[in-house]
Amino acid sequence: MNLRNVLLFCALPVLSVVCFCCNSRRSSSQPPNIVVIIADDLGWNDVSFHGADEIPTPNIDALAYNGVILNRHYVLPICTPSRTAFLTGQYPIRTGMQGFPLRGAEPRGIPLNNTLLPEYLRKLGYATHLVGKWHVGYHTKNFGPTRRGFDTFFGYYTGYIQYYNHTLYESVSFLLLIIKEHSTILKYDSTNTMNV
Ligand SMILES: *[C@@H]1O[C@H](CO)[C@@H](O)[C@H](O)[C@H]1NC(C)=O
Ligand SMILES: *[C@@H]1O[C@H](CO)[C@@H](O)[C@H](O)[C@H]1NC(C)=O
Repeated sequence: MNLRNVLLFCALPVLSVVCFCCNSRRSSSQPPNIVVIIADDLGWNDVSFHGADEIPTPNIDALAYNGVILNRHYVLPICTPSRTAFLTGQYPIRTGMQGFPLRGAEPRGIPLNNTLLPEYLRKLGYATHLVGKWHVGYHTKNFGPTRRGFDTFFGYYTGYIQYYNHTLYESVSFLLLIIKEHSTILKYDSTNTMNV
């Protein structure tokens, strides 16, 4: 049996785009490989198959032209809820993962009584791998990706990480700056609890 893989690639926080890619020439006996790329902050016109002339994306374009392009498919506008919806198949408000993305030290994650997509795929015989960002909880080991259906994980657990030096810079004032940039009406009170 060929190795069947699920790959998830994830980048920076906030906006997310999800692409499914299948081998259209598969025989009926062999399920397709599935590669999902979750690219936060990818603008509509940041891929050349949408017309970008500053950022050529020939490989992504090839995947798109050989697959299905969903031009009216929407995701949540922020990282943690968007990833939660993808992994659980539910609106994130069902699991308490709606709203602002998880902060580094926040003791919260997708509740453990939810079965995630890679767990279902693993039951179907898939090998499952995650590369890049997780950002749906890691405050105890059981919330981490390798206890939630992924055979392997190579990446980072939370958001705001810098591409080049791999450090994380997170403070209330930094988060407030992000919120301001996204024109969202949110504020922290003195106990660091978020109010909407
Ligand atoms: C998980 O547990 C919570 C709290 O008991 C419950 O509200 C929720 O429905 C459970 N979810 C699942 C998928 O079983
Ligand atoms: C990492 O890079 C970011 C962005 O350039 C910078 O703000 C931050 O100070 C750097 N951190 C360290 C520890 O070098």
